Amino acid sequence: MPETPDFNDRMLSLGLARVSEAAAMASAEWIGRGDEKAADQAAVNGMREQLNKLDIRGVVVIGEGERDEAPMLFIGEEVGAGDGPEVDIALDPLEGTTLTAKDMPNALTVIAMGPRGSMLHAPDVYMEKLAIGPGFHPGVVTLDMAPAERVSALASARGCATSDITVCVLERPRHESMIEDLRGTGCAIRLITDGDVAGVMHCAEPQTGIDMYMGSGGAPEGVLAAAALKCMGGQMFGKLLFRNGEEEARAKAAGITDLNRIYARDDMVTQDVIFAATGVTDGSILPGIKREPGFLTAETVLMRSKTGSVRRMSYRNPVRQG
Ligand code: FBP
Repeated sequence: MPETPDFNDRMLSLGLARVSEAAAMASAEWIGRGDEKAADQAAVNGMREQLNKLDIRGVVVIGEGERDEAPMLFIGEEVGAGDGPEVDIALDPLEGTTLTAKDMPNALTVIAMGPRGSMLHAPDVYMEKLAIGPGFHPGVVTLDMAPAERVSALASARGCATSDITVCVLERPRHESMIEDLRGTGCAIRLITDGDVAGVMHCAEPQTGIDMYMGSGGAPEGVLAAAALKCMGGQMFGKLLFRNGEEEARAKAAGITDLNRIYARDDMVTQDVIFAATGVTDGSILPGIKREPGFLTAETVLMRSKTGSVRRMSYRNPVRQG
């Protein structure tokens, strides 16, 4: 029997960048058109087409949803040209569908790839998230701490005042009491309307001015953010949140036995991965798609956790006339 090739992250990384570029290019015509679904579908089509050209035997572990609710890039879908290493893929063809439809900042296409079994099969439920950038001792902040306590702990680790700390939070009614607690510390809060993968990545990008991310959002996005931080450095913790028995059943079906577990970054992403994101709308992590007559330009960040390398790439491509 022929041997299955190993996951060669270096060789596959450029291919992964092409996949995220393709999704962003495909969604470009829907930026600012008020149609979330059409923007998402275009990104899904673009991503899937490129993914199926890669020499991999891939399985989508974080995708567009369960098989019965997502016709393409559903969880468990086999992708790739069918030759090559067995890999797991976590993807979000359009992270920030509303941001795209409204032409608001920080919509991204996102994809991570690792060896088979490298990423948590997170069900589509909420996850309580906490993230900080690199350079702090492990566990300086934890999910067990109250929000204000996390700010104080991070400020003393940094040797600054709590008022020098900026926390990024999704603006949602469910976060009101957390925000009130944070306000008591005098820290600054950057409220975002959507896009918590970018929210977490902010912590590892000093130019964004964000020190910490906290609050609940999608669990699939949590695993993608953990993959990004594994490449960029930084700590992240996540705990699945269940609103009803049906959500708990979904987690059990995904193979999760301890429903109360707090996952650290490396529990969510257990082996080295590669990660690519392309800007759809202009944002603090990446510029968005630029249009000029006859051309589209996409900016991508491509990262490998094994080396910690971060590559930023610009791709200008002629627009095909129909
Ligand atoms: P979509 O791109 O699927 O719309 O998700 C955007 C997002 O803001 C995620 O970044 C975040 O994890 C999740 O939605 C939060 O969910 P909710 O809008 O239900 O609070």
